Amino acid sequence: MSQTWSPTSWKNFPAAQQPLYPDSGQLSAVVKQIKTLPPLVTSWEIDRLHQDIALAQRGQAWLLQGGDCAETFEQCQTEPIASKLKLLLQMSLAIVFGARKRIIRVGRMAGQYAKPRSSDTESQGGVTLPCYRGDIVNGYSFTPEARIPDPLRLLRGYERSALTLNFVRALSEGGFADLHHPENWNLLFVNTAKGEAAERYKELVRSLGDSIRFMETILHESTPELKRVDFYTSHEALHLDYETALTRESVRGIGFYNMGTHFPWIGERTRQLGGAHLEYFRGIRNPVAVKIGGSIQPEELIEMIDKLNPENKPGRLTLIHRMGRNKIESQLPPLIDAVLREQKTVLWVCDPMHGNTVSTAGGRKTRRFDDIVDELRLSFAIHRACGSTLGGAHLELTGEDVTECVGGSRGLTESDLESAYQTQLDPRLNYEQALEIAFEISNQLSQQRF
Ligand code: PEP
Ligand code: CO
Repeated sequence: MSQTWSPTSWKNFPAAQQPLYPDSGQLSAVVKQIKTLPPLVTSWEIDRLHQDIALAQRGQAWLLQGGDCAETFEQCQTEPIASKLKLLLQMSLAIVFGARKRIIRVGRMAGQYAKPRSSDTESQGGVTLPCYRGDIVNGYSFTPEARIPDPLRLLRGYERSALTLNFVRALSEGGFADLHHPENWNLLFVNTAKGEAAERYKELVRSLGDSIRFMETILHESTPELKRVDFYTSHEALHLDYETALTRESVRGIGFYNMGTHFPWIGERTRQLGGAHLEYFRGIRNPVAVKIGGSIQPEELIEMIDKLNPENKPGRLTLIHRMGRNKIESQLPPLIDAVLREQKTVLWVCDPMHGNTVSTAGGRKTRRFDDIVDELRLSFAIHRACGSTLGGAHLELTGEDVTECVGGSRGLTESDLESAYQTQLDPRLNYEQALEIAFEISNQLSQQRF
């Protein structure tokens, strides 16, 4: 890897999973235009998240990261965005009760539009077309026209990200996020939901109200910290031309930031040591994450850590393991041991979703709720046994009432999947399942305290 980094030095390295545009001139014109548009987030916000992640590495905070597998342009609407935010706020409340430490809330939101695929093409009924790579690249419909990568979609993606972020920011700063009024976070359909997790959540809200009133009576004043929340954005920084267009030098002259998101991550399919994504990521000042699946070897992991965080700076690097319920026990311990032995400062986060995807007989992609819970529990236990700590969870979820993952307290079966299967890509936890996971995390963290 060459020593001189620039926002485009990645172009000297092989870049996996990039679309092939028929008209490269049009791509350059769009990238040039995006470069002139304002950033979506600021370097100060990014630095604040950096510090929060450093806190989590010291065990003083916990990271909750979640959202859709892929956002779509069509779902950039009031309800889906607000519901996702409500769900993440409810989950963080459930977790904080067990953890008794700060929860860092991060959405897979406002830019999660580019997807890595296992095959470049897709075949249906004897017809083969380029695969769908996410709304920022091409269309989902199975037609030759829709599947042609269109550079103008980068601009639409930037705009949709800005619209989403504007709404999320307004909600997190204003009365909506006020802890005195958690009823604002109720989801529209939830009054009718009688699940165990929903009941537990209602109980928690009642006791929270009592605690806040008690504290404010003692203090004789209301606490402004309770009236707003910090909320950060993240996405897989996959499409390197797009990410470069949003990579800007800080006005403070301290280097380059990806100002299209607070917390970009490198996916399992693009983390090659000699690849373009690692080269791009090593030079930006954001806190960054890497997904690691079972095939990574300890030496490779250490080399990757050294490239991304040569000075071993706190807060800089998060490792998101996504091994799968059946592989985590053999694959995770050697990685943890290597990180401890080499004294690398990382935040360990568990993604219990991506190693647990299975296909039903009917050809639907699903995940079993029990596998997800098992992988989470095993993660807590493995870290504890190795002398390390699990510092967060990375989940695919939605505030919509979908049926995509099987199991959970409502006992969804494979035949229930058809009733509200909406994802175009990976299956997400629905409201009840996500809340159940939050209580499980809360439970695990409360045990850690004693
Ligand atoms: C994802 O997070 O949607 C994803 C593709 O994950 P991974 O890179 O871990 O496979
Ligand atoms: Co996914």
